[in-house]
Amino acid sequence: MTTLSGKTILLVISGGIAAYKALELIRLIRKDGGSVRCVLTKGGEQFVTPLSVAALSENEVYTDLWSLKDETEMGHIRLSREADLIVIAPASANLIAKTANGFADDLASTMLLAANAPVLFAPAMNHVMWSNPATQENISRLAARGYVMVAPTEGDMACGEFGVGRLAEPEDILSAIQSQFKKKALEGLSALVTSGPTHEPLDPVRFLGNRSSGQQGHAIAAALRAQGANVTLVTGPVSLPDPAGVQTIHIETAQQMLEACEAALPSDIAVFAAAVADWRPEKAATQKMKKRDGGSPPALALSENPDILKTVSGHARRPGLVIGFAAETSDTLKNAQEKLLRKGCDWIVANEVGTESNPGFGAGTNRVILVTRTTSDPWPLLSKQDVAARLVERIIETLEDKAHGTRDRIPASGQR
Ligand code: PMT
Repeated sequence: MTTLSGKTILLVISGGIAAYKALELIRLIRKDGGSVRCVLTKGGEQFVTPLSVAALSENEVYTDLWSLKDETEMGHIRLSREADLIVIAPASANLIAKTANGFADDLASTMLLAANAPVLFAPAMNHVMWSNPATQENISRLAARGYVMVAPTEGDMACGEFGVGRLAEPEDILSAIQSQFKKKALEGLSALVTSGPTHEPLDPVRFLGNRSSGQQGHAIAAALRAQGANVTLVTGPVSLPDPAGVQTIHIETAQQMLEACEAALPSDIAVFAAAVADWRPEKAATQKMKKRDGGSPPALALSENPDILKTVSGHARRPGLVIGFAAETSDTLKNAQEKLLRKGCDWIVANEVGTESNPGFGAGTNRVILVTRTTSDPWPLLSKQDVAARLVERIIETLEDKAHGTRDRIPASGQR
């Protein structure tokens, strides 16, 4: 039996020269047993005709939110509800921005806002539009909400320029579609992830904190979820939406983060990406501290916070695989190797932060070294989603190795 047999794919074709590749995608989905319904945006209609799309899909093509005939026969809510998967290929910068911001001003965007099926985006656009921070922020938001991305590739563009922005090949989009229906590698396993900063109160309105945005930790939670894991995300204060399908616990302080993490045990996998404050003000004032004319500034007495990674690594209910992060500003590898031993975790994802090429905190990209007890693997500069996807791939490989007894890189729960 083919992978897509019995599945209905709702394909949205938005505006861009790559729309012609969507015709091949329809053919490939149908060859694999799936049925295809198509929505063409106004931009999409400039590049492919409803007639060619209807002929290839052998289905009616929907173009208009206000079509009385379409709404009486199908309706935009039913259109999205009857789909097993919604695919946007090519996904224009405009449709990505509209979806990220909840706009509903045409059939495609309204249907996406009303969708409860999984959604896969295959973006295509000029390389400068793709690397524009506005587009990258929209992509991060969508990925954090659990939308699947098939990244654009590098090459010559229709406009004569060269760069990243070409629509992925139809065969690659088909594989991404098929993998949505295959058994996921982490199904039946649980994962605990921490993300974001902690805020340690000085008084009712002030706190000690740091610049962590939560993008890296949230992307890891979403990537683990995408592979079927049952994920608990413990996050400090961030402005990101909770990742789709992830149980998200909001905390403020390191002490609260520790309590939430211990309550989430046992767990098969734990990833500590949060930037936890090492210290907290010894005593938080109950009233707002007042500035007095001529008075000296208050002295700050600090107490040490609990070390969550170290506590969980030595816990009686220790997860089988414990992964910490290390934010370093010098000697990244050496410091990370020492940190791994000191904290008793299995791997450290080390990032040298605070440099112009890799700010780490708050940026959309990250350059990391994956450090185990015996190896170190430097990765190139990647989007935080790609760091998350690679990390999850490594987790899956390692768990599979362990299951087959070929390597014993992970100690069994509670053995340390
Ligand atoms: O959130 P973003 O803007 O996307 O940025 C991502 C990031 C730079 C914050 C992330 O990639 C990262 O490096 N997170 C760890 C930051 C950090 O606190 O590093 P550290 O070297 O101080 O701590 C080492 C490890 O111990 C970390 O796993 C940390 O979560 C953990 N820790 C630290 C202190 C503490 N009291 N308890 C802990 O569990």
